[in-house]
Amino acid sequence: TGLKKVKIVEVGPRDGLQNEKNFVQTDVKVNFINKLSKTGLKVIEASSFVNPKLVPQMADGIEVMKRINREPGVDYPVLVPNPKGLQNAVTADVKDIAIFAAASETFSNKNINCTINESLRRFQDVVDMANIHGIAVRGYISCVVGCPYEGDVSPEKVSEIAEKLYKMGCYEISLGDTIGVGTPGSFSKMLRAVKQVIPLERIALHCHDTYGQALANIYSALEDGVRIFDGSVAGLGGCPFAKGATGNVATEDVVYMLHGIGYETGIQLPELIKAGNYISQHLGRPNGSKAAIAMTSKL
Ligand code: HMG
Ligand code: MG
Repeated sequence: TGLKKVKIVEVGPRDGLQNEKNFVQTDVKVNFINKLSKTGLKVIEASSFVNPKLVPQMADGIEVMKRINREPGVDYPVLVPNPKGLQNAVTADVKDIAIFAAASETFSNKNINCTINESLRRFQDVVDMANIHGIAVRGYISCVVGCPYEGDVSPEKVSEIAEKLYKMGCYEISLGDTIGVGTPGSFSKMLRAVKQVIPLERIALHCHDTYGQALANIYSALEDGVRIFDGSVAGLGGCPFAKGATGNVATEDVVYMLHGIGYETGIQLPELIKAGNYISQHLGRPNGSKAAIAMTSKL
């Protein structure tokens, strides 16, 4: 039944790699995405089209998008903050983008160099241009339960921005716990507010695992009816504008849990683990997914 289906949005090639100090060769990024494309994932966030001086790791985004094998039925969104990014998306024949707002003013300023209101005005221009080109738009909100600079964030602030992004035309709103401070307590309060303004089936959760709460938060959101979760294979990642924040929840661990409960993801876990091992080897560090470590010897 539909209720037993969960959509996973793999953000490893973007959120997972954006904060890596050493440049990951374009070839490696392309191979990584091509491997992810063979796992059954339906959405793979592939890069971001942002200022390359601020996020040099993503400077080869256009090249990556031109070189990957786009599997039929798989979407490859890229982050786009402004009309310049949208122009690049058109150049690279991108069909899906994600705009990214924040629920905290300070984080908005540090991350995208403008106030929340100013960002929403810019995003409206981006969405208008995207509509002309038939490009679908996902919306992110960062700092949905806590901000590295301002501390606690109110559920009302999150629902206010979620409603605006949704009305702007975002097909899905991904609620980001950028610094992983949330618990099932703060998440359920926040979700209760957001559910009042946008349909439940349009809500995605984007958990970072800094405090080890991500799987618990995802489980509790499942109980609250959320069926879309972002993850990053091997638990890669971090945000250059949120010091100390670790990677996203490891997609392998999320998929292992979901399959264990009886949810369908369409993902072949062994293939996902191989893709995570591939990128971990290239980064020269152990796989950050506990399920991957446990299962690798049995593959
Ligand atoms: P700005 O400085 O206000 O923009 O930056 P600007 O228009 O004044 O441009 C400054 C320079 O950037 C110019 O180049 C532009 O051409 C260039 P210069 O004249 O100095 O040589 N530029 C661009 N180049 C390529 N593509 C573009 C682009 N735009 C400007 N699209 C801007 C505003 C938003 C662009 C900037 O602050 C930026 O790029 N920030 C990076 C934001 C970012 O990537 N953050 C990490 C991702 S968000 C995240 O991780 C959170 C998330 O995972 C959810 C969660 O965990 O909560 C999504
Ligand atoms: Mg993130």
